[in-house]
This record gives sequence, structure tokens and C-alpha cells, in this order.
Amino acid sequence: MSRIAVVPGSFDPVTLGHLDVIERAAGLFDELHVLVVHNPGKTALLPIAQRVSLIQESVATAGFAGNIVVTSWSVGLLVDYCTDVGASVLVKGIRSQIDVAYETPMAIVNRNLAGVETIFLLPDPAHAHVSSSLVRQVASLGGDVSPYVPPAVAKLLENNRV
Ligand code: PNS
Repeated sequence: MSRIAVVPGSFDPVTLGHLDVIERAAGLFDELHVLVVHNPGKTALLPIAQRVSLIQESVATAGFAGNIVVTSWSVGLLVDYCTDVGASVLVKGIRSQIDVAYETPMAIVNRNLAGVETIFLLPDPAHAHVSSSLVRQVASLGGDVSPYVPPAVAKLLENNRV
């Protein structure tokens, strides 16, 4: 039986920290789904379809394994997607105690809802300070985000500067 896992998130935009987690999670499972999910608690910068294509392009450019599926989910619970595709594990990156506090309730609720377990991967320390919100802020103020994001994202944010 295939071991299928899901890496969910807003990915607004995808960062090098996300790609690090995606690459390592892909090595642990037969199939890894990178799932872009709308987070109603956040104001979005990029449309969901664009976030999906940026991740697809970045995964291909980085030459990651061929067991990665990139898609989005907007109907119902995250665990409904997991059930639909036969995934029993969620993978999240944890950078700090703040992330632990944010992720723990969601992990417990997802396990209670559908028996879906969550595993946490520690980031490469090189990316431990990187977040999408920081990237959005630096980009909006005209700063260089290329050390924090894949080339496709850096190019998009650079071209969108006013
Ligand atoms: O990258 P983010 O914004 O921290 O990702 C959060 C996300 C999208 C994974 C989270 O908001 C989520 O799981 N949303 C799906 C809705 C859901 O299933 N909620 C109930 C269980 S937490």
C-alpha cells in the first residue's frame, strides 16, 4: 500500500523554507501532495491558482523527485482532502515555539476529525527565519527577496513592483 502524505499551507508565496520541507517530506513518503489551502485568517497576496503554478515551477526547477503532486483545496475540511486521496499523514515545518503553539491544536483537531496524524519537520537552520509574511512585507517595501524564495517567485515579485 502507498504511503501518501499532504503538506498543506497558504504558500503565499512559497519560500525556500517550504521547498526544504517539501523535498525532505517527499523522501519519506511514496507520494506527497502539496496542497494550497485558503486561510480565511490571512489577507492573500496571490490568487490560489498562481500559488499552485509557482510551486509546480519551483519543484520542477529544483529537480525534486517525481512523487510530488501540487494542487489546491477549497471545499470543506483539510482532512476531507486527505480521505479523498488516501493520505493518512500531514507534514508541517516547525521553525519555533510559536509554530508549535499554532500547529498543535490543528494537529489534534485533524487527528480527532479523521485519524489523520501530523508530523513536524525541523527546517534547515538556513531557512528558520523565513516566512511568507516577511517575504510579502519586504517585497511590498521594495526590498530584495531573492535570498528567501525560489527564482520564479523572486521574478514575479520583482516584476510586480510599482
Ligand atoms: O500556511 P498556513 O496559513 O499556516 O496554513 C494553514 C492551513 C491552511 C493549513 C489551515 O488553515 C487549514 O488546515 N485550513 C483548512 C481548514 C480546516 O480543515 N480546518 C479545521 C482543522 S484545523
